[in-house]
Amino acid sequence: MSEQVVDKRRRLFLTAAATAVSGVGAVYVAVPFLASMNPSDRAKAAGAPVEADISKLEPGQLIRVEWRGKPVWILKRTKEVLAQLDSRNDMLRDADSNESEQPESCKNIGRSINPEVFLAVGICTHLGCSPTFRPEVAPEDLGPEWKGGFFCPCHGSLFDLSGRVYAGVPAPLNLVVPPHKYLTDTKILIGGKTS
Ligand code: FES
Repeated sequence: MSEQVVDKRRRLFLTAAATAVSGVGAVYVAVPFLASMNPSDRAKAAGAPVEADISKLEPGQLIRVEWRGKPVWILKRTKEVLAQLDSRNDMLRDADSNESEQPESCKNIGRSINPEVFLAVGICTHLGCSPTFRPEVAPEDLGPEWKGGFFCPCHGSLFDLSGRVYAGVPAPLNLVVPPHKYLTDTKILIGGKTS
């Protein structure tokens, strides 16, 4: 790896570290609210399904919602992305997602119910950092082979735009796709029963 690439990844790491520190404030803000709930309300809220409205989601855009205290990403993939999803299969560790976690309805190349809309838990399967969304094609720091995906700044794991992990990086598995179902064309229920 060239010094330039290492330096850029280091900078990405520093940015991620700063974001993590600023996130501590959010935890302090959340505590009084949770403390005011009784234990059963708290338990219900912690495990409850979450509804997400994707009516305003544009192609190429990613939004984040929280489910069970975890970030869930919802990405609307462009037609260009869908057309090249299987072009990197030989570089992926678990291209068919046989070892990775997703609902049965998402056991396909796009790991999704609706090919355009991809959901994933935004937590790296290595040691739990939050990868960054890197949709650009062939950016300087990720190289000419990069077709867009997610980059984990902690130890350099790479995932494609179906959350599938590249071979030769520390993360052992694809990103987790949470259980979800469509209530309407533009409303998704994350968690709960999927049938
Ligand atoms: S936590 Fe993501 S690569 Fe280690």
